[in-house]
Amino acid sequence: MESLVSMVYLFILLSLLQCLNFGPAAAVAHAGNGDGVQPLSKIAIHKAVYALHENASVKAHPLVLGVKGGDSDWVTVEVECPKPSEDDWVAVFSPANFNSSTCPPTEDMQQFPYICSAPIKYKYANDSNAEYNKTGKASINFQLINQRADFSFALFSGGLSDPKLVAVSNVISFVNPKAPLYPRLSQGKSWNEMTVTWTSGYNIIEAVPFVEWGQKGESQTRSPAGTLTFHRNSMCAPPARTVGWRDPGFFHTSFLKDLWPNSVYTYKLGHKLLNGSYAWSKSYSFKSSPYPGQDSLQRVVIFGDMGKAERDGSNEYSNYQPGSLNTTDQLIKDLKNIDIVFHIGDITYANGYISQWDQFTAQVEPIASTVPYMIASGNHERDTPNSGSFYDGNDSGGECGVLAETMFYVPAENRAKFWYSTDYGMFHFCIADTEHDWRQGSEQYKFIEKCLASADRQKQPWLIFAAHRVLGYSSSYWRDGTFAEPMGRESLQGLWQKYKVDIAFFGHEHNYERTCPVYQSQCMNMEKSHYSGVVNGTIHIVVGGGGSHLSGFGPFQTSWSLYNDSDFGFVKLTAFNHSSLLLEYKKSSDGKVYDSFTISRDYRDVLACVHDGCEPTTLGS
Ligand SMILES: [Fe+2]
Repeated sequence: MESLVSMVYLFILLSLLQCLNFGPAAAVAHAGNGDGVQPLSKIAIHKAVYALHENASVKAHPLVLGVKGGDSDWVTVEVECPKPSEDDWVAVFSPANFNSSTCPPTEDMQQFPYICSAPIKYKYANDSNAEYNKTGKASINFQLINQRADFSFALFSGGLSDPKLVAVSNVISFVNPKAPLYPRLSQGKSWNEMTVTWTSGYNIIEAVPFVEWGQKGESQTRSPAGTLTFHRNSMCAPPARTVGWRDPGFFHTSFLKDLWPNSVYTYKLGHKLLNGSYAWSKSYSFKSSPYPGQDSLQRVVIFGDMGKAERDGSNEYSNYQPGSLNTTDQLIKDLKNIDIVFHIGDITYANGYISQWDQFTAQVEPIASTVPYMIASGNHERDTPNSGSFYDGNDSGGECGVLAETMFYVPAENRAKFWYSTDYGMFHFCIADTEHDWRQGSEQYKFIEKCLASADRQKQPWLIFAAHRVLGYSSSYWRDGTFAEPMGRESLQGLWQKYKVDIAFFGHEHNYERTCPVYQSQCMNMEKSHYSGVVNGTIHIVVGGGGSHLSGFGPFQTSWSLYNDSDFGFVKLTAFNHSSLLLEYKKSSDGKVYDSFTISRDYRDVLACVHDGCEPTTLGS
């Protein structure tokens, strides 16, 4: 029995270690910028044992949350422990019942494990009250979001690695745990369609989901929504299949069609219950997209690798994605001046701890409910060994793409193949999926070529390529003698050049870097900040400093790297018209611009013949 137990521990430990990204980024992470470890993965919850103490207690209040209609609320947890210690910690469990009766059936259920689901967050008792070690008393505040189930709080001794359950609290709950929440907008498959995806606890057999919407101030109509969910057996590996599993609820998507361009719409999420009553969300609004090619001011924000953090200081607050809340807050502050957002992979870093996806959608709700929040797939969404991902690590913690593909809509033919195109006025975007094969001859390569070729450059002069891993250039990369993912640039630079891609964006490296207009590692233009004339190379931007622990840069000086910064930030693109584009790199700490350049050019400059980018001509006339 004991050897079996050790084997299970070893397996869990190995699985958890596999979740970590030990790439060069992790190796050069700056001190104080996080440790790159999912905090929930530090908890050896399978090892938890009983150490209940009759004089220890945990009491949580208020008993009912969200009485004023909010989707989040504060809870005070009073802890009393006769034998306090500095590694005592308080876990938040949801659902409230976390004992072994909730464990999935296994062959070895006699004594072990006692607990088989990770908490949704935790705090050390003495973080809130420095005197806790002496007095054994602490008053700890948690901010909870509505996550479709009730909550309880548990005091553990023994630290995270050897947890001993000392006391469990009363149960608390939101007024309506099933409420429709956290809407995410996305561009549909055509320019005049907006999709709204949200999360609720209502299955289709108990309520009919819909969106009530219309132009602001005018009569509102109702559109139906489709419903999806998934189960534990859709997860590919631990911890998503084991301690990280949590019922995800239901995901509803409604397609708002035939929108008038540039118009403000209001919308509300609804569920019609079998008894005829309704459950409603609050009211939201968005501005519909411009007609493709339309000449008007258009503003796009792009970043990768943002992740989440807890505003109440839980989960060691700043250790995992220390820049995440700053980035979120800067975008919210500037939201009136943003039209569409691209989060190009490494979305939540839940890494198989499913509860974290709710918390991420709550964090970005002010943004995602107001402008299209377009995502790309990264290693932390997709990669799991033997699951068809191009890379064989377990950076997704066993999610193997299911969470990202179900909780967010993207206008892909098949969301499990996470590549798509989308138009926004004068922009044409081709979003690739680095976690699936992109090499010449692959299904994705054909898509990328078709997508790039489909931009009518007179109407859509700004052609943008984006993907998660660096397929172009990054000075923080030096693997197999390349500054990018092996084979990436070799496979795709011909397409970028042939179709005269203006800018290629990447994440994965947690920093900012900008190149010259480059082709085959050569600068095609010596200008540094005001580009004009023909498109003779693509400008590559790494913008992976959305929030996760920062990456440094390697020791190599290259001719193509014009600006780099190891800090948290994001990029804003502003198209003023068909011939004028501005790129700004802003830091998340203050929202100010630290790097920028402009592109000014006419249609004939895009058409002009450049090296490896000429249209065929004949001598006939
Ligand atoms: Fe990544």
